[in-house]
Amino acid sequence: MSLRILLLAPSSDRLSALSNALPQRGEATQIASRIGGAAELSAAILRDEVDIAVAELPVVSDTELSLIEATLSSHPRTTLILACGDSSSEFLLRAMRAGIREIVLPNSPPDALAKALERQLDRHAAVSGPARKARTIAFMSAKGGGGATFLATNLGFALAARNRKVALLDLNLQFGDASLFVSDQRASRNIADVAREIDRLDPAFLEANMMHPQAGYCVLAAPEAPERAVDVKAETIERIMAVARARYDFVLLDVGRVLDKVTVRALDEADTIYVVIQSTLPYLHNAKRLIGVLVGLGYDRDKVKVILNRYVKSDEIGVSEIEKTLGAKVEVQIPNSYAAVAYSINHGLSLLKHAPRDPVARSLSEIAMDFAPDAPRRTGWLRGVFGSSA
Ligand SMILES: Nc1ncnc2c1ncn2[C@@H]1O[C@H](COP(=O)(O)OP(=O)(O)O)[C@@H](O)[C@H]1O
Ligand SMILES: [Mg+2]
Repeated sequence: MSLRILLLAPSSDRLSALSNALPQRGEATQIASRIGGAAELSAAILRDEVDIAVAELPVVSDTELSLIEATLSSHPRTTLILACGDSSSEFLLRAMRAGIREIVLPNSPPDALAKALERQLDRHAAVSGPARKARTIAFMSAKGGGGATFLATNLGFALAARNRKVALLDLNLQFGDASLFVSDQRASRNIADVAREIDRLDPAFLEANMMHPQAGYCVLAAPEAPERAVDVKAETIERIMAVARARYDFVLLDVGRVLDKVTVRALDEADTIYVVIQSTLPYLHNAKRLIGVLVGLGYDRDKVKVILNRYVKSDEIGVSEIEKTLGAKVEVQIPNSYAAVAYSINHGLSLLKHAPRDPVARSLSEIAMDFAPDAPRRTGWLRGVFGSSA
């Protein structure tokens, strides 16, 4: 079920400004916009199933406040965030009593509205269960060095560039290195920190423990030392994934090659498991075994897909031979581009940004486009709103 958000402001200019002040939202959000005041706000809440209303009402009279109070008490499911100009303590007190959950004032910091909405979205997700369920994609190398971490981390950049909210979880608990691929800074916190305080886990806590290499892209790093891996239990992963799947559009898993309880629990949750191979015998040999194990775990044959990385047409072993050996289709082919890829990894940069024309970057963009087909939503909240009426 999608989340219904109402935006309301006194004029179309103010509505645009309101919209621009808010963060981008993922697919599972329906946004309605209205021009008007307290009366229109009340009518819209009474008429539509509004989950969260964000309203700008420069002044609110006593009568209007009473109307809002009556409306909210008859629709307790609706959360109201109010941007207004009255900062008197009497008004703020009355507004809170009227059931308005957040008030943003003209002298609040510029991101106050966005933060208020994020808070209420989190609250809403916690109260009413996941508003959406992220598509979950795992990457596993058939053999070390296949490119699982590079492909997972850079697909994350590519999806975030298409305005999706993306979480990448590094599940190589002992020797995870995904953080290096997305930043030149060390991760200050990691999955072991989340595990240690698992009772505090909610979307905000998870995000506070993640790296933020690009807008909309959050990365949960692996423990900084292999011995900390034991802190992370299968149950920890289960809970982190539940929170992440409710919050993001995509959850990417960089999975090690150890098939232990933790990994299997994560793979159970995945919609797709990409087995990353290259066109040499050891990869094929290991991939065949790995696919066998995954199918043996009961995963659908369609859930397990093969990515052929660093493929050059002149390679001795061709695609059809690979497919014959594995008994599986090569879903995706990624070319080889040593210098650009190495540079992006060494500097913790998105290959798409650093070398957008590079053939590997193009392949990644194409995959991202398949996963997130509609055009990037740069216009944000008003997409479709004025588009359909103007
Ligand atoms: N498409 C590619 N073209 C060129 N080099 C690549 C490509 N994909 C991966 N690499 C190289 O392979 C190395 C290993 O990749 P990595 O993602 O760490 O593998 P894995 O996580 O499977 O062990 C990287 O350091 C990178 O230099
Ligand atoms: Mg790796």
